[in-house]
Amino acid sequence: MKKDFLTLKDYSKEEIKYLLDLSGKIKKDKNSYSKVLEGKNIAMLFDKHSTRTRLSFEAGINQLGGNSIYLDSKNLQISRGETYQDTAKVLSKYIDGLVIRTYSQEIVNIFAKYGTIPVINGLTDIYHPCQILADMLTLKEMELLNKDLKFTYVGDSNNVTNSLIIGFSKLGIDITIGCPQKYSPPEEIIKYARNQKEGSKLNLVYDPVKAVSDADVVYTDVWLSMGDEKNKQKLTDLKSFQVNYKLLKYSKEEVKVMHCLPAHRGQEITSEVLDGKNSIVLQQAENRLHAQKALLVYLYAD
Ligand code: CP
Repeated sequence: MKKDFLTLKDYSKEEIKYLLDLSGKIKKDKNSYSKVLEGKNIAMLFDKHSTRTRLSFEAGINQLGGNSIYLDSKNLQISRGETYQDTAKVLSKYIDGLVIRTYSQEIVNIFAKYGTIPVINGLTDIYHPCQILADMLTLKEMELLNKDLKFTYVGDSNNVTNSLIIGFSKLGIDITIGCPQKYSPPEEIIKYARNQKEGSKLNLVYDPVKAVSDADVVYTDVWLSMGDEKNKQKLTDLKSFQVNYKLLKYSKEEVKVMHCLPAHRGQEITSEVLDGKNSIVLQQAENRLHAQKALLVYLYAD
């Protein structure tokens, strides 16, 4: 039976840990699994801009022996009203897998339901699971991915936040979200995390200083996500949640700073921090490649 990667909710703790171990092995040997996708075509259907997701998938597919085909939805019949259901059924006759970046999670779910090929979520408005695999790999490499970790996400609650919460709750690691109350994660995500059997804590803290206090890792992301660019009020509301050295004074001295990129320098994070000694953002970006290759191996290896 085909397997998809639509949200981390569908993956067990054991599967996530397996993927992280495999990512580490693949990172050490770029030429490993170089025939897993031999003879396979993976299409990349993107409704939104991308640098890291698109390039890391294209390079990864190529390194695994496959061929990637970039599809801009504006040039497909979808943009003229052909249904996602019909498109999913037809694509399944030509290609062996689909990476989708789009707005609604429902579209990704439809492709998974009506298609007969593995579907990978390359970002929707509510989830960004590929990013979180790379983030966890980065923390694991630094020997931080354990129960003692004090991990704080500050800023706007978005698809990255939701997937971080889901991933951490699956692994049983506490997570703190620092944001103004009105930008809290959706109730459904909070409930999901708090119901996980691993029993980790999800802390919602509405004061930026308290949120980052004693943190080992501080993670942030853009305040205005794709499609939300006109919400100028948010920029004012989130001002005190900017990741800068004044705020990081309250974290551990050796705090690691994460950002999934692209960043709006001077908005959610200062250039000084993004380029500074505490930043691990480039390692995170690089790990998109290794984590996604591991995911592809998992989905396609016999
Ligand atoms: N972090 C991330 O998904 O980057 P892109 O938008 O460039 O793909």
